[in-house]
Amino acid sequence: MKEFEIKENYKKKINEIKKHNKLYFEKSSPKISDSQYDEIKREILDLEKKYSFLKSELSPSNALGYTPSKNFVKSKHRVKMLSLSNAFNKEDLENFEKKIFNYLNQKIDIEYSVEPKIDGISASLTYKDGLLVQGTSRGDGTTGEVITENLKTIKDIPQIVTDKNFPKDIDIRGEVFIKKDEFDKLKNDFANPRNAASGSLRQKNPEVTKKIPLNFMAYTFGYFESEKIKKQSDFLNFLNRWGFKTSEHNKIFKNIDDLENFHKKFEKDRFNLEYDVDGLVYKINSLELQKRLGFTSNSPRWAIAHKFSANSAYSQITDINIQVGRTGALTPVARIKPVNIGGVVVSNATLHNEDEILRKDIRIEDTVKIERAGDVIPHVISVDLKKRKKKSKKFIFPKICPSCGSDTIKEFNRITKKFDAVRRCTNEGFDCEKIAIEKIKHFISKEAMNIDGLGKKVVENFWDLELIRFPQDIYNLDYVKILNLEGWGNLSVSNLKYSIDKSKKVSLDRFIYAIGIRHIGIENAKLLADYTKSIKNFISFINKNKIDEFLNIDGIGETQINSLKKFFHNKSNYKVIEKLSSILNISDLVLNKKGKLLNNTFMFTGKLLNMSRAEAKSLIEQNSGSVVSSVNKKLKYLIIGEKPTKRKIEQAKKLGIKIISQKEWMRLLD
Ligand code: IVH
Repeated sequence: MKEFEIKENYKKKINEIKKHNKLYFEKSSPKISDSQYDEIKREILDLEKKYSFLKSELSPSNALGYTPSKNFVKSKHRVKMLSLSNAFNKEDLENFEKKIFNYLNQKIDIEYSVEPKIDGISASLTYKDGLLVQGTSRGDGTTGEVITENLKTIKDIPQIVTDKNFPKDIDIRGEVFIKKDEFDKLKNDFANPRNAASGSLRQKNPEVTKKIPLNFMAYTFGYFESEKIKKQSDFLNFLNRWGFKTSEHNKIFKNIDDLENFHKKFEKDRFNLEYDVDGLVYKINSLELQKRLGFTSNSPRWAIAHKFSANSAYSQITDINIQVGRTGALTPVARIKPVNIGGVVVSNATLHNEDEILRKDIRIEDTVKIERAGDVIPHVISVDLKKRKKKSKKFIFPKICPSCGSDTIKEFNRITKKFDAVRRCTNEGFDCEKIAIEKIKHFISKEAMNIDGLGKKVVENFWDLELIRFPQDIYNLDYVKILNLEGWGNLSVSNLKYSIDKSKKVSLDRFIYAIGIRHIGIENAKLLADYTKSIKNFISFINKNKIDEFLNIDGIGETQINSLKKFFHNKSNYKVIEKLSSILNISDLVLNKKGKLLNNTFMFTGKLLNMSRAEAKSLIEQNSGSVVSSVNKKLKYLIIGEKPTKRKIEQAKKLGIKIISQKEWMRLLD
């Protein structure tokens, strides 16, 4: 990469962090999780380490946080509120100790005060003569916001301390947080308990703060002089005596192995805590040694935060529910005790299918390891058998559909000569309630009828109110009744009516896709539409038992044919098509057969510049090309965006597929 490109890339990341700082500190409404934020921060620091010419005032290596919000009066901290450096493994811990020995120029025995790192936001409380005179947020570490009145609403914060040993002038510091069960009630408004605490604490009106039950755990001091207290652990005991809450999990350990073992155990048990913990803090216990070691530019040399994994966590299964999908697939979902994984509170994890439960022998009440990576749905990785209850029983997967009571089956795959891992409800039509709801949700979706005024939640609501039972009911809604429902007004009802009316005009391929036949995705729907040309024709193929004829279509195989037959064998499905075809204006398919990309297949990997995948796909299709979803011999071009998947590139190379950049692809389009 050339120097100017490196600088550009660096500038982009600095701007990104600037944007997120503003959202977090000024607007109190972060849009990314803490771990995503840390990732950007780490990328910036790595770049600075690699290229000495990179510098910015806004770099996280300079700033401790962000300028405090304009909403509050500011106050300079008497002693800076610093952050902690992070350790993720044993090696990081060994390096931390090594640096201490180097700094002291000798090897010594170290005693650590070990404390849970509560994932909230820190606050500093100034007490003079036992009276709480000021409370501040951390702000940028040097200057905080004066939020005394808001902090006073927290019941764990004493406003007067009468103990005769309480220092005359002291800043007590700790974490403001919200308990997990309280967060549960607010989870629609905030991504995680930390954001909820931050949002609540930084309200302009303390009455609003009061409504959200905040807690305070004390763990350190700012300004304070004492000859008497020699150890951090003693200070924690004093805090308790003075009426502050401290963690009941605080410990003392003397070597890295013990720290590691405690960390492992704590990471496995943390889901049982009432509040979110994202790691452990290790502090050198001797306050005198702390003083000698001092600080680097933004963190103390005498303490480190040992973080928990950002993409996996342990929790306990409280129940296993079976979800029924649009095509009848029974998907088991584990309900788990809520646990924060990398900034997102997870309370459900997919168990995929019946076989997965059998293979891993997953049971209700088991302690399990859950992974959440990127946008992938959280899933159970393994069971901690050591924690299994003696009386636990194997989970029996239901043999009948939990929604409609029909038989369920595991289909036999003639190619692999194996039974499918997924169990399915044999009801293909609208008689199974759960299947019917999912079919309607599919019908209204973006790629199908695209009725944007009618989201999935609205479908569920309308179903419960018996306003809809079949897709055609959407075109015969009782708008007067809807207008009287909670949450609906003139504008939203007229928007709904508009988007429903607009959807009446639809192309044949979209319509075939919208009716939701298993194995008939958008691509296959286009093939069927291209072959049958009109809805009249399509229906007559079904009426005349000519579905087998679709085998002539390149791309339609036995799987699709069987699925089509099964679908139309069900009377309710057929009736829906008939009804809809009389209500809708289904246009015949006129394919643009002259486009520049005719007979060319494409696939994308990585992020595209200034364009969504959906837009790129539509551009290709408008030009008669097609987009496929796997690398195989049929693929002609693999288009590479930012951060492509290496495996796809390797596969493409092996098959001799052309690999092109976004620019090169755009050139094909002119
Ligand atoms: S001591 C100079 N102790 O972690 C060190 N911090 O990245 C001051 N935190 O801003 C912090 N639990 O919000 C300390 N037992 C604990 C803590 C703790 C949580 C937070 C705090 C701080 C951040 C450090």
